[in-house]
Amino acid sequence: MSIQWFPGHMHLTRKAITERIKEIDVVIEMLDARLPGSSANPLLAELTASRPALKVVNKQDMADPLRTALWLAHYNAQPNTRAISLDASETSPARAIIAACHELAPLRGGMVKPMRVLICGIPNVGKSTLINTLKGKRAAKTGDEAGVTRTESRIALADDFYLYDTPGMLWPRIVVPESGYNLAASGAVGKNAYDEQEVALELMDKIKRVYGVELEARYKLGMTPEAIAETKDEDLLEAVGRKRSALTSGGRVDPQKCAEILIGDFRTNAIGRLTLETPEEFAVWLKAGHSA
Ligand code: G4P
Repeated sequence: MSIQWFPGHMHLTRKAITERIKEIDVVIEMLDARLPGSSANPLLAELTASRPALKVVNKQDMADPLRTALWLAHYNAQPNTRAISLDASETSPARAIIAACHELAPLRGGMVKPMRVLICGIPNVGKSTLINTLKGKRAAKTGDEAGVTRTESRIALADDFYLYDTPGMLWPRIVVPESGYNLAASGAVGKNAYDEQEVALELMDKIKRVYGVELEARYKLGMTPEAIAETKDEDLLEAVGRKRSALTSGGRVDPQKCAEILIGDFRTNAIGRLTLETPEEFAVWLKAGHSA
């Protein structure tokens, strides 16, 4: 695996979550809809296993709706778990969140037993954006660098409903190589942790299999989706670079520029609404990773 990602201070987060969870009724885990499995941190599942879970599949506006539906069905089939999808344009996400939490913890609510919810998610998943929307003002700091430190805060969504921000940083954990590549492509791990050309090749490999039509529409390669799916990743990346005049001073296609174009276009949705993994694929990766 070539993603070199060794975030520190996870032991502090572990300790803080273990302490906080005692007073929590429901744990919300925010996930990136373009890579739900990879953007989940298994440490969180481990630390919060005793509590019902609400999976908030965020950035749905950037993801493939068919695949988002697959992920929601996957999570909703798990015991003690509900899943909803959201995006930043949602003006009143509180209603869906409150309703799902009441389903998960029906005995909580009212002034005597207010609902206490912990909201967690790896950096860049959109937690600050959601918290800001919920609070209706800039309560949490929104930052574009993975790892902007913030302090824990409590938000009252209703008189009897409290939302607690994660104590500490919940860094992404790379459990299998595919997760690492998808996290890197999404921008969830620091730039110096990976090789962009390698990440771009892996990204191309995932995109070409399912999103040939979108790839053709974006880059005008003059290829059918079938031909795209059968072409080698490096050749496709080079074709993209040629189309976009990503050349070195000597006139050759510059592999670094090609990589930056593809990754940049993925992050800004310029290719379309793409999701890099399905629940089924993710399960296969995990299985292969554990038996390796
Ligand atoms: P975090 O607290 O989990 O670290 O994430 P944060 O809210 O800072 O969001 C990270 C980036 O993702 C921000 O973009 C934010 O606008 C964007 N974002 C959050 N939720 C959604 C969503 O549902 N859909 C889309 N399309 N984008 C979302 P940024 O470029 O870093 O900053 P800016 O564009 O807000 O200036």
